[in-house]
Amino acid sequence: MPPSPTNSDSQLSLTKRPRRLRRNPSIRSLVSETKLTVDDLIYPMFVMEGENQRVEIVSMPGCYRYSLDLLLVEIAELYTLGVKAVALFPVVSESKKDDNGTESYNPAGLAQQAVKAIKAQTPGTIVITDVALDPFTTHGHDGVIDQDGVILNDETVEILVKMAVSQAQAGCDMVAPSDMMDGRIGAIRRGLDANGFTDVAIMAYSAKYASAYYGPFRDALDSAPKFGDKKTYQMDPANAREALTEIELDIAEGADIVMVKPALAYMDIIHQVKANCNVPVAAYNVSGEYSMIKAAAQLGWIDEQKIVMETLLSIKRAGADLILTYFAKDVALILQKK
Ligand code: PBG
Repeated sequence: MPPSPTNSDSQLSLTKRPRRLRRNPSIRSLVSETKLTVDDLIYPMFVMEGENQRVEIVSMPGCYRYSLDLLLVEIAELYTLGVKAVALFPVVSESKKDDNGTESYNPAGLAQQAVKAIKAQTPGTIVITDVALDPFTTHGHDGVIDQDGVILNDETVEILVKMAVSQAQAGCDMVAPSDMMDGRIGAIRRGLDANGFTDVAIMAYSAKYASAYYGPFRDALDSAPKFGDKKTYQMDPANAREALTEIELDIAEGADIVMVKPALAYMDIIHQVKANCNVPVAAYNVSGEYSMIKAAAQLGWIDEQKIVMETLLSIKRAGADLILTYFAKDVALILQKK
């Protein structure tokens, strides 16, 4: 008779016990693979005309349209909190809109003025400008249209180049084309270089999907398309391989940073893009993603701070090097308390 095993049935003999490395906070932080810091966050901000104005966006509680004077106060505070990059979006009054979005390259336009003022006040803040026509067009599309409402690619790209150059003249650090026209990255790079702006970087919204998650942002800018949708230029949410084509094209054309947008429903895309390219990858935690968390938190159904930190950490873990998020200031405040 072989001796009976010394282990009682209730005593497992495991050589691998992953829980050893989870025993307390110190050991957990020692082996943690991903860190969320403010260094990687870009804060999207809305600037409007006027003075001493701060108007909360109804569908984005905690986000505001600021007149330039108050935007500057906020940006100075953000800088001291460690939020050193902002993505600017101008709210353009109806009277300044036209079919071709010509206000977009007005050297005295709101975005251009804002860039100048921010760089004069807080030169250390990285100012990223949006390159797309939708805030400036009467029809709300990101491009110029023909009489049948078809969005015209090459005609639009010409205007986008003027827009990017005017933003560079105002002093922006980086331009971020969010329009999804073909060939715009190369055209913008050539336009910037020809005008002496070889140091202005391009963050390309490369894999930008036609998403319902942009709804609250369009409220913020009053920029919802007046007819149709954006499916002839933004990507089909069904497609993953196509994202890699877009990324490849944008890098070949001169993108310094590529972006996946939205983030949460597209984590697989972030992961694949990270594995397939060698430039920094940005992810945009968009307005709808923000509003869903805010709404559930307001109802008391979730713990907002914990959900925010977990969500953004997950976007980094998926492969994002940079995150554009309306939670940037909240994260800075939360991390400061820790
Ligand atoms: C437009 C633009 C959009 C966003 C950023 N730039 C909306 C759209 O494409 O309709 C969305 C950002 C967000 O939802 O937070 N060029």
